[in-house]
Formats: sequence, C-alpha cells, structure tokens
Amino acid sequence: MIQDKIDAIKLKIETIADKIDNSKSFTELKMALLGKNGEISALMKNMRDVPPEQRPEVGKIINSLRDWANARLDEIEAGVKKKELSELYKAEKIDVTLPGVRHERGSFHPNTLIRQQLIDIFSGMGFEIFEGPEIENDYYNFTALNTPKDHPARDMQDTFYLTDELLLRTQTSAGQIRVMENKKPPIKILSPGKVYRSDDDATHSPMFSQMEGLVVDKGITLCDLKGMLDVFAKKIFGENVKTRLRPSYFPFTEPSVEVDVSCFECGGKGCRLCKGTGWIEVLGAGMVNRHVLEGCGIDPDVYTGFAFGMGIERIAMLKYGINNMKLLFESDVRFLKQFKD
Ligand code: DAH
Repeated sequence: MIQDKIDAIKLKIETIADKIDNSKSFTELKMALLGKNGEISALMKNMRDVPPEQRPEVGKIINSLRDWANARLDEIEAGVKKKELSELYKAEKIDVTLPGVRHERGSFHPNTLIRQQLIDIFSGMGFEIFEGPEIENDYYNFTALNTPKDHPARDMQDTFYLTDELLLRTQTSAGQIRVMENKKPPIKILSPGKVYRSDDDATHSPMFSQMEGLVVDKGITLCDLKGMLDVFAKKIFGENVKTRLRPSYFPFTEPSVEVDVSCFECGGKGCRLCKGTGWIEVLGAGMVNRHVLEGCGIDPDVYTGFAFGMGIERIAMLKYGINNMKLLFESDVRFLKQFKD
C-alpha cells in the first residue's frame, strides 16, 4: 500500500521534472511534496495509522523516499538556476557594435555670441567690465545723465516706472554714473546688461540688451572715439568696413553722434540691408557732457571723456541677417542651432 503511494510520488516527480523550467514552478513542486501539507509530509503524519510493529519499516521507507526526493529536487533546482542565469545573460547582453544614441550638442545664443565678441574686443583694448543694477533710481537712469524730470528727451525712452523714484533701467548709460561716482579717472569701462522699454515690434522688444562704453582721462578727444570705433567695426563686421559719425543728440553727450558702418553686405553700393544708402547705423556715442562729469565730482576742465552705447540684439540681427527680433526671444531650437560661432 505504502509502496504504491511511494511509486506514484516518484513517478509524478519524474514525469514533471522536465517541465519544471523556472523557480516559481520549482517552488510549487517542492511545497507540494515537502511543504507542511505536502504529499511526503502527509505520509509521515499518517504513520499513526500504521500498526506499531510495521512502523520502523515504513518509517525507513518514507525517510529514504524523502532523501531521494530531496536529492532529486536539488538536481532539478540546479538545472532551473542554470537555465534562468543563461536567459538573464542573454537578455542583458550589450551589443557594443550597435551605433550609439546621438546627443544633440547645444550652441550659444546669438546674443551671447555677440556679447562675448564685444567683451573680447573691448577687453583687448583695456576696458574693464562693470554691471549695474536692472532696477535703477530715476537719478542714475535720467537726472545724473543730464536728463532732469521735465526734460523732453525722457520721451525718447518709454519707461517702466516701479515707483516715482524707481524704474527698470532704460539704458546701460546709468552705469556710467555709478562708475564715475566711485572711481576717479583714468576710467575705461564696458557695461553690458539688460534694459527695459515699453516698446514692442519687429525691431523692438520690452526687454533687450545693451553694451555701454565709457572712457574718461586727460586729453580724450572725439578722434580717440572714432579710432576705437574703427577697430571695433572691423572686428565685428569685417576688415573692409568703414565708420562715419553723424551729428545727433543725447542729453549726456556733447557733441553727440550716431555711428554708421559702411554696409558689409553690398560694400557700400546700396542694397536691401542698408536700404540703398550704403550705410548702417550701429550705435550712439559722444563726448561726455561736462555737466555729467561735474555731477560726478570730475573736473571737466581737467578731464574729458567719450561714451558709446549699442543694442546687442541690433548688432546680432545685422551681423547674422535676422529680420525679426522676436526670434531672439522665442528660443526655438531650429533657429538657435544655426549659430555655431
Ligand atoms: N543710451 C543711449 C540709448 O539707449 C545710447 C547711447 C548714446 C549711449 C550715446 C551712450 C552715448 O553712452 O554716448 O539710446
């Protein structure tokens, strides 16, 4: 009787052994045989039904069945582990010959490129960088720049006022005053930064960037300004460009000039870029007004200076042929990735 059961269990293990191919079904088999309610454990429990004189004999048979089953299960388990490991190796195998995933390389924003070029050019001429605050006092942005409260020139720049006295700076020229108040000549500074005006069309934006320059020392003349601008223009727009000064007006410079460069697109013959004139306006400049020097405690009879200010977006648009300023603020990668240097 007991032998029949044992044979049945052995047969069951042998028929099923080949089909056990993963840890889960192996554990199920093991539990079904040797678990608390497993078939072999049940045989042990049933010993109490066996007549006492037969118990040692039957006990021996069941023990040897358990030993056999344990050994057989060890073999099955070893096979399952080997198979699972080789499947894992296969799944995790890396083909090093496959082409890699290409990562897009970023590029600098045209504004950053121009800003860097300008800083390179002017620091090569000995200019130091000064960065003033974007929230500025009315005094630094206007009054100290010879543009008092009722001055009509304030209309040239639509201003975002925060309070009666605080505003978003409309021009980096404000930095000139901060520098001259704190430093005595010789002064040679370059002041890049963001400025704000209530203005919005294809060539104007409420926020844009400017680069201001200021030189103050004994004996500085308009010729020094012109000579320096010639070098700047050639480095930015190409060796063949020429510069010219046109009379203009800014409250903080006297005389004031508008600086044009000969058209680098047509060489001065006249084209769409220069609107047929052969010249392109690039910046405003002039000799620092003596009232401005005086207001900063610098004696205008001893020292003179020149200043200039340009829009970085404007230079970027001219140099790279960008026709709408919005493109510089939209951050569309299809646009931005065209600028590599
Ligand atoms: N601040 C002027 C503007 O925003 C530009 C400018 C003109 C700056 C003449 C200067 C200068 O330093 O001398 O329109």
